[in-house]
Amino acid sequence: MLTDVLIIGAGAAGMMCAAQAGFRGRRVLLIDHGEKLGERIRISGGGRCNFTNRTVSPDNYLSQNPHFCRSALARFSQYDFIEMIERRGIPYHEREHGQLFCDESAEDIIDMLRDACDDAGVQRRMGCAVHSVTALATDDAAAPRFAVATDLGTIRCQSLVVATGGLAIPKIGATPFGYKLAEQFGLPVIAPQPALVPLALAPEVLTPLKDMAGATLDARAQFDEAAFRENVLITHRGLSGPAILQISSYWQMQAYARGGQEKRRPVSIDLMPGVDAAAWLCEHRQGRIHLPNLLAERLPRRFAHEWCALLGSERFVSRPIGELSNKELQVVAERLNGWTLMPAGTLGFAKAEVTLGGVSTDALSSKTMAAKEVPGLYFIGEVVDVTGWLGGYNFQWAWSSGWVAGQFA
Ligand code: FDA
Repeated sequence: MLTDVLIIGAGAAGMMCAAQAGFRGRRVLLIDHGEKLGERIRISGGGRCNFTNRTVSPDNYLSQNPHFCRSALARFSQYDFIEMIERRGIPYHEREHGQLFCDESAEDIIDMLRDACDDAGVQRRMGCAVHSVTALATDDAAAPRFAVATDLGTIRCQSLVVATGGLAIPKIGATPFGYKLAEQFGLPVIAPQPALVPLALAPEVLTPLKDMAGATLDARAQFDEAAFRENVLITHRGLSGPAILQISSYWQMQAYARGGQEKRRPVSIDLMPGVDAAAWLCEHRQGRIHLPNLLAERLPRRFAHEWCALLGSERFVSRPIGELSNKELQVVAERLNGWTLMPAGTLGFAKAEVTLGGVSTDALSSKTMAAKEVPGLYFIGEVVDVTGWLGGYNFQWAWSSGWVAGQFA
């Protein structure tokens, strides 16, 4: 079998790239080992797909090279994707933080991309596993450069696009194929790690929190310079909720610092974002109210009571706050604005939304997504070391990088 462009992975990035290359008149074959197109799109955003965000910038992405994503995001932006959605007539709505979701179903996006592929003459083969990839020696730019052994037989192609995604949720078909192929061709890979993932706490940290499980707090989670004000959820295994998922990516990023040798540091949770807890406690100092009851004015009642018990002295619970010393109130205020917890790890790829790390951007052209040293080989989407925040940014990277590669492959 012979084709101009072979794309492995019929997910968000692969479908976008396939349609674009097809519209350029390239013969495109799109293959996937799964049975369904765009399975990750289907399950995303609770079935409504948070397909992009109103505001997208390189600041919304983590990568060893934070500038790499700039070019693709500028060339096919969120506005370009929104225009596609509107042209197709897909109803959508905006939620907090500029997140855009389908009104009805994520299937609308899959149908749009499938139809674009069909209109562009893309051939599709689902349920097709890849066994090996061999580079073919040739000086002729028009000759096939790769032989790919698959369930369909050997496919020869000029351009090979790897769009196999990351490792999150292995049960829906995630594989390390893209990383292994990169290594086969000598491209460096930044060790993949689960990101946008709940954080696990060690038993000695978790046990005193067990009666708080289920509490949802409007809080500000912080790690180094990164901070997100959204919900934090205390769970039976540790911490979750959007603010924690966001901060987990930055906490995981630390694993790369100094070659992974840096000591792990805690995350900090501001339980009273935007409020100077010291001043607020001071305002209530004259009253006879006890600390847990005062905190329950701003925090869930059960949480407030359990949290006070963690302060380490019966006095914080048994005495009215007017009887607490300045030093004691200072301790409470500091902990309210910066409750530090040391994660023991994450809940892993099974519970992660994305993968941090991947094919190193050093090895790729940001203009084309092609491997600099391997003509005809492209990497797009999540398999690349570009990881977005929660909020539609990961799909936008898939659309942008897929679109760009589709102009060159
Ligand atoms: P994607 O994973 O979409 O596609 C990769 C394809 O490659 C798959 O079809 C897979 O079967 C195939 N494949 C893998 N290995 C293969 C092999 N060896 N041979 C052949 N085929 C192979 N993002 C966002 O912006 N908004 C959101 O609402 C959500 N929601 C969300 C929910 C959940 C539960 C998850 C797990 C993830 C999200 N995401 C998200 C993240 C988003 O889904 C993700 O970043 C994109 O789908 C990445 O697109 P790709 O095309 O790179 O990979």
